[in-house]
This record gives sequence, structure tokens and C-alpha cells, in this order.
Amino acid sequence: MYTVNAPPERVAAALPTDERWMTLALDLAARGLGRTTPNPPVGCVIVQEDEAVGLGFHPRAGEPHAEVFALRGAGAGAHGATAYVTLEPCHHHGRTPPCTDALITSGVRRVVVAALDPNPRVAGCGVQALRDAGIDVTVGVLEIQATRQQVGFRSLIVRGRPWVVAKYAMTLDGKVAAHDEGNGAVSGEAARARAMTWRDTLDAVAVGSGTLHSDDPALTTRGLSGGRDARTVVFDRRAQSSLQARAWRPGSVLVTAPDAATLAFEAASITVVRAETPQSALTQLGRLDISSLLLEGGPGLLSAFLDASLVDEVRVFIAPKLLGRGLSPLTLPARRMHEAQELRDVTVETLGPDVLVTGLLGDIPCL
Ligand SMILES: NC(=O)c1ccc[n+]([C@@H]2O[C@H](COP(=O)([O-])OP(=O)(O)OC[C@H]3O[C@@H](n4cnc5c(N)ncnc54)[C@H](OP(=O)(O)O)[C@@H]3O)[C@@H](O)[C@H]2O)c1
Repeated sequence: MYTVNAPPERVAAALPTDERWMTLALDLAARGLGRTTPNPPVGCVIVQEDEAVGLGFHPRAGEPHAEVFALRGAGAGAHGATAYVTLEPCHHHGRTPPCTDALITSGVRRVVVAALDPNPRVAGCGVQALRDAGIDVTVGVLEIQATRQQVGFRSLIVRGRPWVVAKYAMTLDGKVAAHDEGNGAVSGEAARARAMTWRDTLDAVAVGSGTLHSDDPALTTRGLSGGRDARTVVFDRRAQSSLQARAWRPGSVLVTAPDAATLAFEAASITVVRAETPQSALTQLGRLDISSLLLEGGPGLLSAFLDASLVDEVRVFIAPKLLGRGLSPLTLPARRMHEAQELRDVTVETLGPDVLVTGLLGDIPCL
């Protein structure tokens, strides 16, 4: 059912062969983003004589893995073919049988793997099993792109907590909200549409009690075709947020102080996490299988996470507007210029009238 028939010409022809097919495998894997946790998003392409004969991706935990769908699509065409897979094939019995067995039985001649499994107990075993069966295995093709795509899965396995993305939109004079109540959107349509795709592909979306109270955000992917709504997480130490707020839905989590009174939230089927610190909150969110968390503000919450060095990635929209008096996006302790935190792998993109700046603060969790 999930075997896809995307035409192979989607791949940029100019790339060397292995990278070209792995690009397609990564595109396929992206279709599972936000849906596979605690499993990783994985894509697979079976190539016979420079033609894709089987395509697959892992749609969600409990469903077959990408390799199985791709091999099903390829049928007898897999014999002597090359399999491109974005993560090392599993070699253990989980909820589904080992993919290494399926690949060996299919008769593929060569397997190209983007990245090894980050689980120390698994890493390398899948590749070894394939080599032991006489299959030629290449590892590391588009590894950086693959590990970026699998960053939530890797964070959960290696650090036991979600990958944290801080997002906000500010004016050219550095304000995220006007000084009075009744905030309109800071950024334009294209920027907001992009943010919807993040809500669709990350496991959970978080706001602080201040934002819940002032904006009552729905935190949905409304308007995004095929979008799914992430779990919502509200940070509210006193547990005094309104239960009528639009952010609450099945699967929502309240992060609150250890001694807060939470009976009403529990009665409303909201999962309660009790944490003294943002670090403890993240560990407990990891135990709830939240592998990636989009912090949507506001300044109080973002500053607390940045101050504790718990933000892995930053995505900021800058709108060409001057607001004057208003709320700053962050309240961080003063630093000298040479002490400023610098983002790595910075990207800058124009979205309608707005500019999107992204970059990394944390390291991609690897072995
Ligand atoms: N432009 C944008 O991108 C954007 C995005 C979001 C919000 N905003 C604006 O931001 C404003 C609200 O900002 P805000 O700073 O008042 O609200 P906030 O950051 O949403 O919430 C701050 C509150 O979160 C609670 N909290 C729970 N755990 C916390 C922790 N570990 N560290 C810090 N705070 C924690 C605290 O209240 P307790 O002590 O009661 O728990 C704190 O007062 C609104 O005007 C909104 O429009 C703008």
C-alpha cells in the first residue's frame, strides 16, 4: 500500500550515480517524517540497470520498513540489483523481521547505505550480515544529509531526549509582539506556510503559558494538504492555564512544577510531566517517544532553553517591519561580542517579504 511510484526523473541527473539514487531515497524517507517515532524515517530505492524498479519508505512504527516496500515493488527485478537505503538495514527481530534477511533473500548484488544505525548495540551489525552473505556494501553516501534527516531518532537513541528547534518571528527592529494586547502575525503568508510544514514533520510543538494565555494558538497544520498535527506541549509551572485553550488536544502534555495541582488536567486526559528544570522536562518528553520538539515561544520559554544550552537548532523569520516599542524575542544574560553564541551550517532564504535564517547550535547525535 505504501510502495510509491514516483518517477525516477525527479532525481537531478547531474549527480554521480550513487548520490543521485540516494537523493531519491532521502526524498522518500522524508514522507515519513513526524510519523515514524520511535522509529527513524527511512527510504529505499532498488535500482536495476540505472532504472528504479522498487521504491519504499517507512510510513509509521509497526508498519513494514522501507526495504520491504521497495523489494515488494521490485519483485523479481531485485535480483542482481543495487539497493539504496538511507539507514543501515536492521538485523534484529523487532516488531517486523530483519530487513537484512529480506535483502539477502531478494538476491540484490549491492547495498548502498547512507548512515549506520546510531544504536551502539546495532551499529554495523546490519552491514556485517549483508557482507557475510556476499553482498557488496557501500556506507556513507550522503551521510550528512541522512543524519540531519534522522536527527530526532538519533537524539532519542544517543541522548534520550528530543532534538530541540527554537522558532520565532521578529520584526526588523527585533520585536516578536507589540507592546499592547491583540497581536497580529509578525511574518507573512509564505513564512507561516513554512512553519506549518515544521509542525507537520516534528513530533511535538511547545509553547509557554504566556503565549497560551495571550495568543491562544491552535498549533495545527491547518491549510497544509495531508498535514498531521503534532502533539502539543505546554510549559506552565503553576498549572493555571485554561483548559479551554485551543492548543489542548488528544496526546497533549502539560509540563509543570513537581508540586502543582493538576487534577483538572489529568481529568481532561492531558499527560502531566513534572519537572524542576527544562533538562528534566526534555528527558521525560523523550520517554514519551517525543524525538523532536519545536519550541514556538514565547521569549520566556525560549530564553530558558537557550540559557540552559538545550536548543539544538534555531529557525528565525525576520519581517521587514518596524514596530517600535514591543517584546524582544529573548532575554539572555549580557555577553561580550566575542562570547556570542554562533550558529553553524547557517542558511538564509527569502520567503515572500520575509527572510528565514536557520542554523545549528547542537551537534547531530552520532555514534
Ligand atoms: N513572534 C513570535 O514568534 C512569538 C511566538 C510566541 C509568542 N510570542 C509572543 O510572546 C509573548 C508571550 O511571551 P512570554 O515570555 O510572556 O511567554 P512564554 O514564553 O510563552 O511563557 C512564559 C511562561 O512560561 C512559563 N514556564 C514554564 N516553564 C518554564 C521554564 N522552564 N522557563 C521559563 N518559563 C517557563 C512561565 O510561567 P509560569 O512560571 O507560570 O510557569 C513563564 O512566565 C506574547 O505576546 C506572544 O504574542 C511571539
